[in-house]
Amino acid sequence: MPAKMKSLKKCLDQFLCGDAIEVAKTLPDACVDTIVTSPPYWQQRDYGTADQIGQEISPAAYVERLSELFDELKRVVKPTGSVWMVIGDKYLKGELMGMPWRVAFGLKDVGWRMRSDCIWQKPNAMPSSTRTRPTTDHEYIFLFSNGKDYFYDADAIREPHVTFSESSKMKGGRKHFGKRGGTPEKGKNTGDTNLHDGRWDQAFHPKGRNKRTVWSIPLSKFREAHFAVYPPKLVETCIAATCPPGGVVLDPFSGAGTTAVVAHKLGRKFIAIDCNEEYCEMARRRLGDA
Ligand SMILES: C[S@@+](CC[C@H](N)C(=O)[O-])C[C@H]1O[C@@H](n2cnc3c(N)ncnc32)[C@H](O)[C@@H]1O
Repeated sequence: MPAKMKSLKKCLDQFLCGDAIEVAKTLPDACVDTIVTSPPYWQQRDYGTADQIGQEISPAAYVERLSELFDELKRVVKPTGSVWMVIGDKYLKGELMGMPWRVAFGLKDVGWRMRSDCIWQKPNAMPSSTRTRPTTDHEYIFLFSNGKDYFYDADAIREPHVTFSESSKMKGGRKHFGKRGGTPEKGKNTGDTNLHDGRWDQAFHPKGRNKRTVWSIPLSKFREAHFAVYPPKLVETCIAATCPPGGVVLDPFSGAGTTAVVAHKLGRKFIAIDCNEEYCEMARRRLGDA
């Protein structure tokens, strides 16, 4: 173990203050199940420290710094582990910069495998005065895995059936769903190949249909924070899917500590990093009050 490497015991359930890249270098190998995070967006907000990410002169320099961090984090995350990254875009002189995808390709370039591009749709997004384009009411939620096989509990995040619900007129739905013998193999629709194989899961899985890629979740506020915090419900979904019970969740940009608070509530351990000591203190208080 290198001299400056921390023992896992010293990192668990802690808010570690410092530059994410430097702190990541002190974390043990393969100790994290999943990362849930939202990095500082490019040229969006001043977080008040010299080592902050987001103030780089160009998008390329910003992507390079985030890629350097996530390159190091590949070592820290288990081979079966993953990353959920929530990231919004930016307009510069009226042009969309494509920042989420630039960052996503940066992570791919350092070896993370991109598994999903989900959309966080915000039903209560701020109205805008723009008359030359639609009002933005979404951000991206990228899912990456460290290796070829990764932990993903689809059952933990299923959503209610819609198409094949009791009220639906779709074949195989009404008077069929949940009834004795009401499967594609038995009953009214015996032999309906339309409902076999993949359709089985979509139509009749008792825990609901597989999670979709558009997540509609209202923005929430944490009154002490002067910056955007993400909603606990969003974090809950990510943790439930990719962190086994008792596992470890890392947030290298912890801010007001939303990831840590949700991980704690769901019976997971956390490691939280932020470069701003005031935010680390705020997050410690928030966890204490939770
Ligand atoms: C978008 S906020 C995260 C908010 C968080 N998701 C929440 O719900 O509270 C980004 C955070 O990254 C932190 N940050 C910026 N540069 C950093 C760096 N180099 N190392 C660690 N943290 C950094 C900022 O201080 C800020 O708290």
